[in-house]
Amino acid sequence: MFVLPIAAVVCLLGTSSEAATLRSAAHGRVHIGTAAKPGFISEDGRYATTLAREFDQLEPENEMKWSLLRPARDRFDFAAADELVRFAKQNGMLVRGHTLLWYQAVPKWLGEGQWTWNDLSQLMANHIQTVVRHFAGSVYAWDVVNEAFHPDGSLRSSIWYDSPGTGVGGPYGYIERAFVLAHAADPRAKLFYNDYAFEGGGPKFEAILAMARDFKKRGVPINGIGFQCHFTLNSIPAATLQKNMRAFTDLGLEVHITELDVRLPVDGTGHATPQDLERQAQMYGEVVRACLAVRGCSAIQVWGFSDARSWIPRFFSGQGAGTLFDQEFRPKPAYRLVLDLLTGAAAAR
Ligand code: XIL
Repeated sequence: MFVLPIAAVVCLLGTSSEAATLRSAAHGRVHIGTAAKPGFISEDGRYATTLAREFDQLEPENEMKWSLLRPARDRFDFAAADELVRFAKQNGMLVRGHTLLWYQAVPKWLGEGQWTWNDLSQLMANHIQTVVRHFAGSVYAWDVVNEAFHPDGSLRSSIWYDSPGTGVGGPYGYIERAFVLAHAADPRAKLFYNDYAFEGGGPKFEAILAMARDFKKRGVPINGIGFQCHFTLNSIPAATLQKNMRAFTDLGLEVHITELDVRLPVDGTGHATPQDLERQAQMYGEVVRACLAVRGCSAIQVWGFSDARSWIPRFFSGQGAGTLFDQEFRPKPAYRLVLDLLTGAAAAR
């Protein structure tokens, strides 16, 4: 029997003659995004080229957080975030907004100020209204609240949670109010709750699911849940990821993978072993497979795309090499597997 080589089959299935990229392979099934920084775009041509070539969505790694957006009580600085939005528009990319309320990235003036509950209530409302309106029509989805739960499922202490006046009552007071305010400021934006270390189940997962159920039941305007997915070789919840995403999509919510990376032990130059890079590829593959298997998982976003420009070495000592491209912007095994899986999903459409 005459057997066609795989490459010929792929050609016959009608993929374009241009080299495939993540964004071309994912087109029509999921958005493929990354965290990005405007400084890297302007100072590194390889960074900018790879970003525009491979991704159809970006999210400012820091530039929409309070600490960068709001240097003083009465001053917003949108310049850096606007630069990213411009880059996205020029390159036909969507923008995810991150994040309206978080217990971190609280500017000094806010964290150290003396506030009444009423002050904080007004600051929060004014912030959400100003920021969401500024980006209305540019940001298609917001992480409205980020990382509000402890591992045991209780709510985490933060300037917002600890000030009952910022909420509307009920167990999720400030979170609920943030969604209501964001929806009023841009009714077309998709509103997400985003968190980490719950993807595989456990008390934090149960707590987020209970909140999502409650919000859906009472008509609080929530559209989706962000699964951050910061993993190590030992922490990927491959067996439960799909089921846990479905728990939310069954409620009528979307799921986005928002901050995927898989950090590895590295040597003094930031390099991992070839074996670990292969295992890392399998783990990226598990996450992509899970998302593609769940209708309602509509975006896969990585937290940085090159080992040269990743947050991991600064935050986790002795670890790194967590992204899809190496320090020289060459594709790693994980990139190749993700591309193959996305291409397969496209072929199956
Ligand atoms: C991180 C950024 O990558 C760093 O550059 C910054 O110094 C701290 O924040 N979860 C989140 C992200 O939701 O906002 C965090 O980003 C990483 C963990």
